[in-house]
Amino acid sequence: MSTNCNAPTLTVGELVKLGLKGITLTILECKRCQLHENATNKVIMRGSERPKVVFIGEAPGKNEDEAGIPFCGRAGKVLDGLINYMNLDENEYAIINTVKCRPPNNRKPTQKELKTCIPFLLAQIEILNPNVIILLGNTAEQAFSVSSLDWGEAVITPEGKHLIKLYHPAALLYRRSLMEKQKEMIDMNKAMWQKIR
Ligand code: URA
Repeated sequence: MSTNCNAPTLTVGELVKLGLKGITLTILECKRCQLHENATNKVIMRGSERPKVVFIGEAPGKNEDEAGIPFCGRAGKVLDGLINYMNLDENEYAIINTVKCRPPNNRKPTQKELKTCIPFLLAQIEILNPNVIILLGNTAEQAFSVSSLDWGEAVITPEGKHLIKLYHPAALLYRRSLMEKQKEMIDMNKAMWQKIR
């Protein structure tokens, strides 16, 4: 196995000092867990570098691994539809994942993989500095160590950011009936990103 466990682990603070470009380079070089071994591309972010809203998914799937772009496959189409429903302009949002390399067969990332990758996520968020963070599913929620949120529940973080948990777009592909509830949860929280425009 070619995992390079001797690579220095940068703290969130150190990563923040590198800026988005430096973080990207560090992720591209990262061999800190075995997921890098099968990654065609690291999947880092898409969207605005000054977003009001950041969406956080789980991990890249097959299409994302091939293209190096988050949410560019079927789940991405669903997410784009939701972003449209939310009335967000192109320059108002960014999309990132909790884990930057595709887990084999789209399995859930392990706790160890999450722990290894989370500093990249936290540093990205600190630099992007959105007003609203949308956690797409349970894996994204775990990364924030918030005590279990209900679907659609919004809380304010110690840093003063609105944090909301919504269904992962892939769940909406498999259970179409959840879409109505997802839209209700978006409607309930709409004021949050409308009033900050
Ligand atoms: N699912 C995710 O969580 N992220 C992606 O980028 C694609 C599918």
